[in-house]
Amino acid sequence: MSNYSIGVRTKRWAKFLFNYLREKHSGLDFSMVYVGELQESVNEFHGYSMTDAGDMRRMLEAVPVDSSKSAFLDVGCGKGMCLKCAIESGYQKVAGLDLDEHLLQIARRNLSRLKMDAECICVNAVEFDRYDEFDVFYFYNPFGETIFQQVINKIQDSQERRNREIWAVYYHPVYGELFDRAGFQLKSEFRDKTWDTSTRFYCYPAKSVQP
Ligand SMILES: C[S@@+](CC[C@H](N)C(=O)[O-])C[C@H]1O[C@@H](n2cnc3c(N)ncnc32)[C@H](O)[C@@H]1O
Repeated sequence: MSNYSIGVRTKRWAKFLFNYLREKHSGLDFSMVYVGELQESVNEFHGYSMTDAGDMRRMLEAVPVDSSKSAFLDVGCGKGMCLKCAIESGYQKVAGLDLDEHLLQIARRNLSRLKMDAECICVNAVEFDRYDEFDVFYFYNPFGETIFQQVINKIQDSQERRNREIWAVYYHPVYGELFDRAGFQLKSEFRDKTWDTSTRFYCYPAKSVQP
């Protein structure tokens, strides 16, 4: 990956400046850098950075579900940009969870300014016990391998409570092999030229029911 090429850096800074000015104007805060205490104190915690709205829209369009009948969860939702995009994409239900209450307060404020509604839940993804309520899960590299493995297990276990096709959209897929090993099927992958990373789309099929 050429994350440090001048072209990629210039595009990143241009996008950041554009977002900053636009948010300043509208009283929103999705893109400003935030480094909280959790980042230093919690093992395997990956801090906040935002998914670009345009990239998120393209990712959501690529998930082959009927959004009006599906529920979307951003696992590590930060300031809520992906919740906004999922609401705009017409998901029947949208929620996000995060370990950091400060980020969630900003997310709630952003959504309220936009007159949008989504549940913002303060919980460690490992302890969350409502994965069965959701069909499409989004991950932007939120945590390290050990936590990721436990979260994938919990999502798989949730199929026992509600049998359905599960989709995992994994942006910047550092631990993609965890999904492969757990039996998720890699359906597609596309590259994001601005951030110079990729997104993987994994499917965990519904269990066939014996007649
Ligand atoms: C890279 S940011 C992504 C934010 C948002 N999904 C987006 O794309 O704009 C990762 C987020 O995961 C959260 N996070 C890290 N470890 C977590 C955990 N164990 N449980 C819940 N959230 C966590 C962080 O607080 C951070 O907001």
